[in-house]
Amino acid sequence: MSMLNVALPKGRLGERVLSLFEEAGFSCPAIHEPGRRLVFENPEVGVRYFWVKPSDVSIYVERGAADIGVAGRDILLEYKPDVYELFDLGIGKCRMAVAAPVGFRDDRDRTLRVATKFGAIAKAYYASLGREIDMIHLNGSIELAPLLGLSDVIVDIVETGSTLRENNLEVVEEIVPISARLIANKAAYKFKGEAIGRILSALAEKEG
Ligand code: PRP
Repeated sequence: MSMLNVALPKGRLGERVLSLFEEAGFSCPAIHEPGRRLVFENPEVGVRYFWVKPSDVSIYVERGAADIGVAGRDILLEYKPDVYELFDLGIGKCRMAVAAPVGFRDDRDRTLRVATKFGAIAKAYYASLGREIDMIHLNGSIELAPLLGLSDVIVDIVETGSTLRENNLEVVEEIVPISARLIANKAAYKFKGEAIGRILSALAEKEG
């Protein structure tokens, strides 16, 4: 049996993704052994897993280094990788939103300063509103920007809302709901279609 290369997103989401794959019958005991290894395989069920940075999953899949992977819809919307989106896993649910200091009043005659790590999503959103913005591209801790006057608002992921609440910020507009998606390399989908189909239907069946 040929092995299916599967890119898993490192971190909290990845642990849940792995559990879903395991419950669907694609377990890999080696992945639970302590150590610094990066690649784990279980030839019996035909999978080879590797952990990558969540925002890198779609790069591995697009270029065929991974046959399939799991990426947040935020990443797919931001980077528009040329991959097939096969299935909504229904986990990692959150939303992309505009947030601002509580009580923020937008002056539509002024250019809005927007801090984000999702530049393409923010650009498309404000273009759809015909709003001129000054984009400030940050790589993390986006919530800090309006607190220090670096930006007026942020475009970021909101899950429980506690990061906003604890920093006296609030959602002012919702942009799009997000969840984790199973994605596939386009050539692999053709040549390893049967193996990909097996995982897909096992995951979909679990979902019920
Ligand atoms: C994300 C996001 C928010 C936070 C939202 O950050 O950027 O900061 O989670 O979650 P909450 O609504 O449950 O508080 P992440 O942990 O990915 O780190 P980052 O600072 O690198 O963006």
